[in-house]
Amino acid sequence: MLVTLSEILKDANERHYAVGAFNCLSLENVMGAIEAAEELRSPIILQLAEVQFPEAPMEMMAPLYLEAAKRSSVPVCVHLDHGQSLETCVRAIRLGFTSVMFDGASLPFEENVDASKEVTRIAKAAGVDVEAELGRVGDSGVDTADVFTDVEESVRFVQETGIDALAVAIGNLHGHYVHTPQLNIQRLIEIHEANQLPLVLHGGSGTSVEDFKACIHNGICKINVATAIQRGIMKRINERLAQKPDEGYIPLKQVMIDASREVVTEHIRLFESDKRSPLLTPPLWGE
Ligand code: 13P
Repeated sequence: MLVTLSEILKDANERHYAVGAFNCLSLENVMGAIEAAEELRSPIILQLAEVQFPEAPMEMMAPLYLEAAKRSSVPVCVHLDHGQSLETCVRAIRLGFTSVMFDGASLPFEENVDASKEVTRIAKAAGVDVEAELGRVGDSGVDTADVFTDVEESVRFVQETGIDALAVAIGNLHGHYVHTPQLNIQRLIEIHEANQLPLVLHGGSGTSVEDFKACIHNGICKINVATAIQRGIMKRINERLAQKPDEGYIPLKQVMIDASREVVTEHIRLFESDKRSPLLTPPLWGE
């Protein structure tokens, strides 16, 4: 069932778990992710970031995401990740995405407020929810001088923009971590105490179990995972190819679906979103 971001995060916010938001670049990713969510009766977010458009054009991926969501027996939100402009957000809204992230984190504070507010005004008119970011989540290996989300600024930002979810920077980085990061949970607690809305953790791949648990028990309701899925697929393909390197045809499609399902299953369990979904397709003979 296709749902919006605020619909899918409401229960997570009240009951302290997180919904996984998985960047899916292929049919195999989407099928594996949905299979995992249905098996575990978990809500799930399918998302695509603007930087991924060259590999997976949004106009081609949107029908796939939306069809998977509508057919699914669990709640599925279809989300634009890191939209870099109002125009990209409007394209996603027109395609039927149920939420968009506008990423103005690199802008000066006032400009980020103004741009996020404008995206929210337009998205709301179309019934679409908005996530925005304050502070800088960098890329691992590139940017270590990240700026953490400021608590006072976060209050102003949330109030003035009217967003539905706030992405925070607490020491998290995108991509493959060389060393396991140490998140600043104290800063997260302060941001959570000052704001009621669901908080979002970017850069989920490679985070320690302890940090994941501390996050979901202190206001993080959405966790983004991208790198772990592609690395999981790479690993399983390598293993499969090594088994019978001379085989004429190796059906890698199923390997990719299985690897995606495996990674998503692991994260759903870590985020404690399993068994949270109502069974939307009523069982024929009752449960
Ligand atoms: P990772 O690739 O580190 O999992 O980050 C995903 C992300 O935050 C997408 O917005």
